Amino acid sequence: MTSQSQKRTKFGSKFGVVAAAAGSAVGLGNIWKFPYEAGQNGGAAFLLVYICCVFLLGIPVMVSEFAIGRRAHANVSGAFRKLTGNNRWIGVGVLGALTAFLILSFYFVVAGWSLEYVAQAVSNNFVGKTPTDLSVAFTDFTSDTYRPLFWTAIFVLLTALVLLAGVEKGIERYSKLLMPFLAVILILLSIRSVTMPNGIEGLTFLFKPDFSKITPQVILSALGQAFFSLSLGMGCMITYGSYMRKSNNLVQTAVQVTIIDTLVAILAGVAIFPAVFSLGINPAQGPELVFVTLPGVFTHMPGGYIFAILFFMLLAIAAITSTISLQEVIVAYISEEFHLSRKKVIAVSSLLLMVGGVLASLSLGPHSNLVINGKPLFELLDFVTSKLFLPFGGFLIALFVGWFYKAEYMRDEISNGGKLNTSFFPVYRFLIRYFVPLAILLIFCNELGLLPF
Ligand code: PHE
Repeated sequence: MTSQSQKRTKFGSKFGVVAAAAGSAVGLGNIWKFPYEAGQNGGAAFLLVYICCVFLLGIPVMVSEFAIGRRAHANVSGAFRKLTGNNRWIGVGVLGALTAFLILSFYFVVAGWSLEYVAQAVSNNFVGKTPTDLSVAFTDFTSDTYRPLFWTAIFVLLTALVLLAGVEKGIERYSKLLMPFLAVILILLSIRSVTMPNGIEGLTFLFKPDFSKITPQVILSALGQAFFSLSLGMGCMITYGSYMRKSNNLVQTAVQVTIIDTLVAILAGVAIFPAVFSLGINPAQGPELVFVTLPGVFTHMPGGYIFAILFFMLLAIAAITSTISLQEVIVAYISEEFHLSRKKVIAVSSLLLMVGGVLASLSLGPHSNLVINGKPLFELLDFVTSKLFLPFGGFLIALFVGWFYKAEYMRDEISNGGKLNTSFFPVYRFLIRYFVPLAILLIFCNELGLLPF
């Protein structure tokens, strides 16, 4: 170990490790993106494919990312150099940092929306509005020039402040404090939603699959959503793995994080779909789904004023534990590889990310020419990262671990130097060597129409 790697900070308690990784995984992906993707892709059919992707592809890739990170004790790109002794694989890391940048460019904007909605909730603005009024209000707000940018800037700033505090004092402390709080509020909200008139229809939509709805597009969306929601395919979990201790159980942590993340996504679905059907909202409405449906619920429930404030605060909290992890990929990569101070890198990357956020947000405005191929830049960033870069990154990581890195080293890392039972290792090995790369390849080819069925 070099003196530099000894100086790197580490996560403290075992719970802190799970909380930080779960904090990264649980975010807007679960509460904002999962419901609208499910709504647009056939509900239960999507959920079914999604769960298969999470467990068969997500867990093996997450274990691999943790192992790469902890073994190398380095940032996403440096990790590949350290493990191979050459520069052939560092491109995976560079792609990861680029992906983090592209995701954050729209993620910060949506995170900003959650702050606007905290403000709206505080001023009791949802009262007396129909779902149509709420939809118009959402579009008016998001297509405005300055207001969304103000909130984006606040979010960029908040994230920078947490990052400045450092890994242990920043990331871990906040995740530990905020994650359990998040679960409680979601459960309360779900109970309310399910008991609304016609709420059961929403549950049927979410849990009773219509297999004829499973199309290539649904499969690609579910795959992309699984990677996005679990923070995989761009080195986020490599970076977090590098802060783990030799005594942490990587497989157990990956399984716990995956279960927590999936439960939160399903809970978000249970909170939203019954209300969608009860209020007569179109489930395929797209990115505005959460922002239109839940304010509708709050106006129909006792204590709705408080619930609205708590919910949107919760959304912002879930978002910040994810933005921290995304930006940490960029900060660790640039500061370590180019020997720059973390402070400077945090400042400069925040400024650049703000520029990305400005462009993404303006592309939703009516007078914008930031539309490429009929898609506003905002949508394009979401599409390219979830449906292309993350699965492709996952594919490369699986290739690396499955075909280029010694299986024995991997077993050593996963078993903490032989201390833990690894009877499952052959299953993991099969999944990461054959199943994961092949599944991703087939899904890509299928989407491009290269398969005969
Ligand atoms: N998983 C986060 C979410 O669901 C987003 C994310 C993606 C974070 C990729 C890190 C890396 O909101």
